[in-house]
Amino acid sequence: METALAALLPPPTLAPERLHAAMRYVALGGGKRIRPMLVFAAGAAVGAPQGRLLTAACAVELIHVYSLTHDDLPCMDDDDLRRGKPTCHREYDEATALLVGDALQSLAFEVLSQPGLHPDATTQVEMLHLLARAAGSRGMAGGQAVDLASTGRSLDLAELEFMHIHKTGALIRAAVLLGALCGGRLDAALRERLEHYAKALGLAFQVMDDVLDAEGHTATLGKTAGKDAAQGKATYLTLMTPRAARAYAGELIDTARAAIEPLGERGRRLAEIARFVVERSF
Ligand code: IPE
Ligand code: IPE
Ligand code: MG
Ligand code: MG
Ligand code: MG
Repeated sequence: METALAALLPPPTLAPERLHAAMRYVALGGGKRIRPMLVFAAGAAVGAPQGRLLTAACAVELIHVYSLTHDDLPCMDDDDLRRGKPTCHREYDEATALLVGDALQSLAFEVLSQPGLHPDATTQVEMLHLLARAAGSRGMAGGQAVDLASTGRSLDLAELEFMHIHKTGALIRAAVLLGALCGGRLDAALRERLEHYAKALGLAFQVMDDVLDAEGHTATLGKTAGKDAAQGKATYLTLMTPRAARAYAGELIDTARAAIEPLGERGRRLAEIARFVVERSF
């Protein structure tokens, strides 16, 4: 991923140098790369070719990194630390961080629309459609809007679930489906299993993100711990104890693993990622 992203991103010597340097600053050298891992794991389940998966993985990660850059801006979560480094607006400036997000989002679609990525052009259009929808107001950006609107208010469980499924779940679902679409024709029953897996996994991922914000450490997380409570964010920990939230994430992961159980060995990597999501400490 590191090598592929480094090759995709414009060189820092190309004008405008500062923008290109800032794009590389946020996209390279950090992060768990869990969305790319999901692209590869779903691709492994259908026997998709590696080169195509790498391109799809880069597209999803670029959208993710854009979302982090904007999420950290003073007008959103106002964070100083990301992936163990000063946030983009801290290292550069706010306007640059805004443009970095804009440019990374465009680059994601440039990469995914590259001619001939998929031998079936209709499938490639479906991949583009899926990622566009996942990133937009009915997906990630919509979830972020709910997050901001609910800061300082308490949400009920259904509202929290809506927020988490959109702000985080949408892109995780897109990663899984993009990986699966990199193969040949995607069987409807398999697609449904993967959808089910991804939905549960995406929600569990954000529940654990909430738990780690409260219980984790800045040094291991690479971002400032304890910010959700300090900023009055609506999270699973405003509705339940950390212990109950962990248990809930565990149940979601059981659901996710059960959905892909019939895949057997083909679903092994997806099952391993699911386990990592609840066991992680960063
Ligand atoms: C953090 O995502 C933001 C959320 C959507 C929860 P990650 O925890 O995947 O962040 P990186 O990519 O590892 O930095
Ligand atoms: C961020 O959720 C979700 C997106 C970036 C879309 P958070 O605000 O909880 O993510 P962190 O904790 O800053 O990584
Ligand atoms: Mg946020
Ligand atoms: Mg944040
Ligand atoms: Mg968080």
